[in-house]
Amino acid sequence: MASTTAHTGKATAVAAGNGGVTTPEAHDSARCGVLPARQWPNIQVEPEDLPAPGEAVEDLETPVLVVDLDRMEANIRFVQAYCEQLGVRNRIHIKTHKIPQIAARQVAAGAAGITVQKLGEAEVFAASGLGFDDIFLPYNLLGAAKLRRLRAFLERYPGIELSLTCDSTVVAEGLSTVTRQVGRRLKVWVECDAGLGRAGVTQPGHALDLAGAIERLPGLTFGGLMSFTADAEPSVAFMTAALAVFRSAGRPAPEVTMGGTRQLRWVEQVPGVTEHRPGTYVFHDRQTVLQGGWSFDDCAGTVRTTVVSRPTAERGILDAGSKAITPETMGLDGLLGHIVEYPEARLYRLSEEHGYADFSAYPEAERPQVGDVLAVVPNHICTTVNMFNWLVGARNGRVEVVWPVAARGRVR
Ligand SMILES: Cc1ncc(COP(=O)(O)O)c(C=O)c1O
Repeated sequence: MASTTAHTGKATAVAAGNGGVTTPEAHDSARCGVLPARQWPNIQVEPEDLPAPGEAVEDLETPVLVVDLDRMEANIRFVQAYCEQLGVRNRIHIKTHKIPQIAARQVAAGAAGITVQKLGEAEVFAASGLGFDDIFLPYNLLGAAKLRRLRAFLERYPGIELSLTCDSTVVAEGLSTVTRQVGRRLKVWVECDAGLGRAGVTQPGHALDLAGAIERLPGLTFGGLMSFTADAEPSVAFMTAALAVFRSAGRPAPEVTMGGTRQLRWVEQVPGVTEHRPGTYVFHDRQTVLQGGWSFDDCAGTVRTTVVSRPTAERGILDAGSKAITPETMGLDGLLGHIVEYPEARLYRLSEEHGYADFSAYPEAERPQVGDVLAVVPNHICTTVNMFNWLVGARNGRVEVVWPVAARGRVR
């Protein structure tokens, strides 16, 4: 399609299939788009210098994402014990850290398998060789390319139990086709929207209908009901109604898997709940502190950042912008993170490479100096981690380990 500007009469390409009319820019990007990857110029750069074990955290070049291992391990232990006390399986969600070595610690602590959000994450965790043999993927997988990858995954990892969700027969039919190709059954859960307004069937009766459809499709087994909802009340209402609908249809009570760190506070109220999928709890963040009742002392992940400028008496500019700290405000107070050393400071803006902080809450003499290094707890740790190639695991102020964020960017 081409549009013609009224003033100049010149044609401008606005999309592919433009009838042969192209701007030089569009032509260039089209050429780049068809260039096979192997013909890309081979750019030579020195490998990045990684921190060494034993190095002092305070000496690390910034911005750098540092995880306090004592806090992380305490978080893992706490939630594991909590789920055991509630009698629900703890199926941890790996999308927070995307690091197989951390998930292995969560499984060693007692987690009942892992949750991934994307097939690409499942591929990375399966390939890690760390023994993740029970993977739940609560996402609608559909389309020829995705189902080809699902088939390849199932063929490559016959020992891994992969279960999935759907909220329509379109998705279930695609999954059923794959089971025929690989000669292997798949457990499929029904995703329920109990009030988040995201994917999922919105009526308990539809959950029953879809469960029946799953069972009628060759190769599929109905797993139960899956939900991820912010609030207790609609979750309890939905699952109460869903269990009643299953009961009156003469069916056994389905398993129920719920999710979320904040939701741990009330998950035991949900009738029939058998499993929970917390992710963020492993590191926590400003959101779980402000909305979930955790404390900044629970926050294991911080972005260490240098004050690179003090242009005014109040303002400090940090070397971590929106490419190192998520710019998501998460429905909180509009601020973009918590500065550990200056809890009353306001991190009020992020441009790509600059963080803008207002230190006016402190007497001038106490405000940070150019060159000081500060630690920021981001609003949302999961999307922050996804911006880093690796993170540092530290204990008592010293680097213990550097982990690649192995499934970083695996959005497909
Ligand atoms: C389906 C599903 N389950 C579990 C979780 C884990 O939630 P949280 O990271 O808040 O613990 C998420 C988070 O986005 C999710 O989408």
